[in-house]
Amino acid sequence: MRRPRELASMRPFTLVASALLAVAAQAGKFPDAYSEPPKGYSGPVFRLSQDYPTEMPKPSPKPWERFDPVTQPDEYIRAILAYCLEGNLEVDFAGQNNKVRKWYHVPWLHWGLNGRDYMRGLTFELAAPPGKLADTQKSWATNCAVGMYNAEGGYIIGKVWADPDNPRKGNIKFPNGTCVFKLLFTTAPVEELPFLKNSKEWQGVIASPVGPYDTSVERSQKTVRLLQIDVAVRDDRVKETGWVFGTFVYDGNQPGAGVFERCVPVGLMVGNDPTLTPDQRAKGVLPKESWINPAMQLFAWRSKPGMGWLGRLNGPVDNPASSCMSCHSTAGYPNITSLLPDPSSPISSQMLWFRNIRAGRPFTKAATSMDYSLQLAISLQNFDQWKYSTKTRLFPLGDSLATEQPMVAPIRRFEPKSESEKKGGGLDLTLVSVLSASALAWMLGRRSAGT
Ligand code: HEC
Repeated sequence: MRRPRELASMRPFTLVASALLAVAAQAGKFPDAYSEPPKGYSGPVFRLSQDYPTEMPKPSPKPWERFDPVTQPDEYIRAILAYCLEGNLEVDFAGQNNKVRKWYHVPWLHWGLNGRDYMRGLTFELAAPPGKLADTQKSWATNCAVGMYNAEGGYIIGKVWADPDNPRKGNIKFPNGTCVFKLLFTTAPVEELPFLKNSKEWQGVIASPVGPYDTSVERSQKTVRLLQIDVAVRDDRVKETGWVFGTFVYDGNQPGAGVFERCVPVGLMVGNDPTLTPDQRAKGVLPKESWINPAMQLFAWRSKPGMGWLGRLNGPVDNPASSCMSCHSTAGYPNITSLLPDPSSPISSQMLWFRNIRAGRPFTKAATSMDYSLQLAISLQNFDQWKYSTKTRLFPLGDSLATEQPMVAPIRRFEPKSESEKKGGGLDLTLVSVLSASALAWMLGRRSAGT
């Protein structure tokens, strides 16, 4: 395996330590990406937006508050997207340069095998096997994403990370009006996914999965296309959870003039439908706290009754055994809760992942709440692991990194374990993120859909 030039001598801890030292003298405290761009590179360079507000922003009306998320979900989710795009298109999502309102990134996502790329700050997401994103998808695709919080969110990120050497790890609760969005891109080509025609294209330095048995793949510069946009807002009117999660997919066959006008809402959710069990579903009961856009039936995607478990909302790239709010409700410190329930456990245990947990409340007594922010949960976990590895000079991420191997993507895939798992929603592949300080594989868990 040849090592790309820019990654030579790139032991993560040396890299991060030097990046921290180098950056300390400059504006920011936190490194931007897993590496600086190589010498002579002249393309876009990702800069972490980290000038976090030090005071709680004054409460201000938000455009989605004009609508009810349960009775007017379509209007509600479109109002969120319009707010997220305002001023960001002009600066190509460099949130710190936005003239309308500033947006902020979560630090410490540069570190580890998923670390942000230096062009766009993209972190790796679940890889999609052939057939997952469309029946015409013939090859593996890498998905990657970058997300930003508004000032309300940025204030909390800044509070957690006020002391860069000693982040706060207690319960957090984002204020009403917090908004976060995530642009999700894929390497899948337009020939395989025709609905991606004329989508937003970026270049990213990311890994390419080429088959089900690779354990690692080198990064290289690639074209990625916008596939999905995830949004989440804190809305105090939602009594059960305090959060609303929604998602859009890009469809090049839509009539809209701009890329973002061609994004179609997939759905919106305010809760996890805690009483909706497989038995209930068999009796015809449908989720009441998820709205799935009926127009999606017309959509180029394979039609599905709902993307998530028993019809709850999920994104097209996400695991069908989960839902947006199920997975995000696990966000905590320490990061000990699996993102997904064990499909072989009794339904009563699985239902713990479909409770309506209120904003600021932990999933389990053994951890504090990161209030549905998996990025913050991962940032604290990355920091702990970095500290552990600098102290011990051990690399919990594996031998390859200790021997100056190139930065690799954490892509490990397994064959389905049993027929029942195949039937139960497709455990045909698993993306494992090797992140745990104790060298335990931490399940990123967004298992692929398969068929
Ligand atoms: C099985 C787990 C899983 C599911 C299901 C899931 N996510 Fe996430 N999500 C993650 C992880 C892990 C991160 C943090 C890493 C990253 O940014 O990709 C994340 C990050 C995000 C972020 C950035 C802020 C944050 O909370 O960290 C948003 C917004 C988001 N997801 C929205 C959604 C929406 C909307 C859905 C459903 C359509 C969804 N997610 C489904 C795991 C999941």
